[in-house]
Amino acid sequence: MIALPEPAWFVGCGNMAGAMVDGWRKAGADLSGVTVIRPSGTPVEGVRTVTAYPAGDKPVFVMLGFKPQKLDEVVPSLAPLVGSNCIVVSLLAGVSAETLRARFPSARFVVRAMPNLAVSERLGVTGLHAVEDDLEARELVEGLMSALGLAPWFETEAELGALGAVAAAGPAYVARFAAAMAAGGEALGLPADLSRQIADKTLVGTAALAAKGESMESIARRVASPRGTTEQGLRVLDASDGLQPLVDRMLEAAVRRGRELAEEAARHG
Ligand SMILES: NC(=O)c1ccc[n+]([C@@H]2O[C@H](COP(=O)([O-])OP(=O)(O)OC[C@H]3O[C@@H](n4cnc5c(N)ncnc54)[C@H](OP(=O)(O)O)[C@@H]3O)[C@@H](O)[C@H]2O)c1
Repeated sequence: MIALPEPAWFVGCGNMAGAMVDGWRKAGADLSGVTVIRPSGTPVEGVRTVTAYPAGDKPVFVMLGFKPQKLDEVVPSLAPLVGSNCIVVSLLAGVSAETLRARFPSARFVVRAMPNLAVSERLGVTGLHAVEDDLEARELVEGLMSALGLAPWFETEAELGALGAVAAAGPAYVARFAAAMAAGGEALGLPADLSRQIADKTLVGTAALAAKGESMESIARRVASPRGTTEQGLRVLDASDGLQPLVDRMLEAAVRRGRELAEEAARHG
């Protein structure tokens, strides 16, 4: 059975950490040793939720689930509670392992985890990066994240940034593409609501084919018969000024922002 180390504190638990809690619950994980600390105290299903750090036992596992901009606000009160037996898992986009280590100097192990929203369905992608050699801690974190989907390690922060641009932000990009398909269907005369349902179902159906192991190339090939209608559409997407340069620009913008966030976080160190 998957069990979070006790006591575990999730500091901030909104969209992302909440999605991870959902995924672990679906995996049947033992969350009895987890406490969520968030200013609003808004309950998180399946875990104890409080507004201030619990007195008494210090945590052996801390997951940072607030926005990167809140680091300065959180560190002064949290860092003194993070001792040499505590693993710190940071979800903070763009905040480097080096910056985190400087903020939590006593921590046993500092690891960056870059998940995406589909962790709630245990179909997520969570990139992992750590600089320290603590095999036991690495295995523990990998075990927890693997319960939520694919969880590869990356040697460099640049690779983690690339993973973040593709996978962490990915559900938003895929969602936008489906929404554009729906709007396009409407422009072709479909009723708006039906067009949205059709686009959403097309996305889910394609994902189901991919989930069975079929490659994207194969899916496209099986749909596009020679000289047929799909082939004409693909020609537009595949043109030198088509989808790929647009996606490249989209990813570059996300990576750039990640670098800016990293610089901001390091400056405030
Ligand atoms: N969303 C994604 O797809 C995604 C993907 C990868 C990584 N991330 C990373 O995950 C982190 C959280 O993003 P999110 O989308 O989950 O944000 P969110 O939904 O806004 O959640 C932020 C959480 O931080 C809490 N918080 C705010 N101030 C705090 C403080 N001073 N101390 C403790 N907790 C505080 C909030 O508590 P209240 O609600 O009680 O105010 C809330 O639970 C970010 O660092 C982001 O870079 C997000």
